[in-house]
Amino acid sequence: MALVFSIINNKGGTGKTTTALNLGAALSLMGKRVLLIDFDSQCNLSSAFGVDASGHHGKPEMLSVGDVLLGRCPIRDAIVPVGAMSLLPSTDRLLDVEFQLNNEPGREYVLKEQVDRIDSEYDFVLIDCPPSLSTLSTNSLVAAQYFIVPMQAENFAFIGLDRIMLTSEKVKKRMNPLLELSGILFVKLVHRTKFSQAVITNLSTNRDFEGKMFNTFIRQDIALMESAAFNQTVFEYAPDSRGAEDYKEFANELVRKHGQG
Ligand SMILES: Nc1ncnc2c1ncn2[C@@H]1O[C@H](COP(=O)(O)OP(=O)(O)OP(=O)(O)O)[C@@H](O)[C@H]1O
Ligand SMILES: [Mg+2]
Repeated sequence: MALVFSIINNKGGTGKTTTALNLGAALSLMGKRVLLIDFDSQCNLSSAFGVDASGHHGKPEMLSVGDVLLGRCPIRDAIVPVGAMSLLPSTDRLLDVEFQLNNEPGREYVLKEQVDRIDSEYDFVLIDCPPSLSTLSTNSLVAAQYFIVPMQAENFAFIGLDRIMLTSEKVKKRMNPLLELSGILFVKLVHRTKFSQAVITNLSTNRDFEGKMFNTFIRQDIALMESAAFNQTVFEYAPDSRGAEDYKEFANELVRKHGQG
């Protein structure tokens, strides 16, 4: 059975997509079977692979995660290979799908229902959430065993954290008793700044988060930004970069922590 991870933060631009892409790639390089789910109507994860499922730019429209959620096709039919990994792509229509889902009985369970059908075919399923705590994000927390919160060590970074923890507690209590925080992952870290050190010290001494941060930090690295723009993972684009080193270390930490799935 696959280990399913929701990569979640309601704040925008905190490294969710970068983490899904490069954690997935690192796990795949370890020989793990990885499925990435693009759960965001911004489609950044699909775009990072050059997959445009929306049918814009004269390309044919493809089946996407929205079709799967609405029961228009089996999940297997919408999954595409991306190198050694698999991707369930998204389109900008996912926003409308979310509205349609809101009238669906048991709307929080639709992703889980579909992921359960294929979870013997993968070791890891990584869900790249949108920057919100809406029906889609709840679906990801119901489908997952663990959630990872990528976060920048900056001012106000924690403000959203209470909300994520509160939402996840409700999901755990009402819908998914297995759900656990895998950890908080610091990204875009500039070790030099006193401020980021202060934020990390502050969080590591906070009783609520003691022991909940990953040992691995993802340093700031331009290669992580550039690689996605060139439709590559950081391991293809810059295998010797800090970004490649950090995501490899993070994948190792995750496998040590949870087993290989
Ligand atoms: N470690 C890093 N070093 C430098 N740039 C990074 C790093 N991680 C992410 N970025 C860049 O920061 C921006 C935001 O990252 P990303 O798209 O992964 O965040 P996100 O949480 O998925 O955003 P959204 O909430 O909009 O979905 C991107 O331009 C990305 O390339
Ligand atoms: Mg994103």
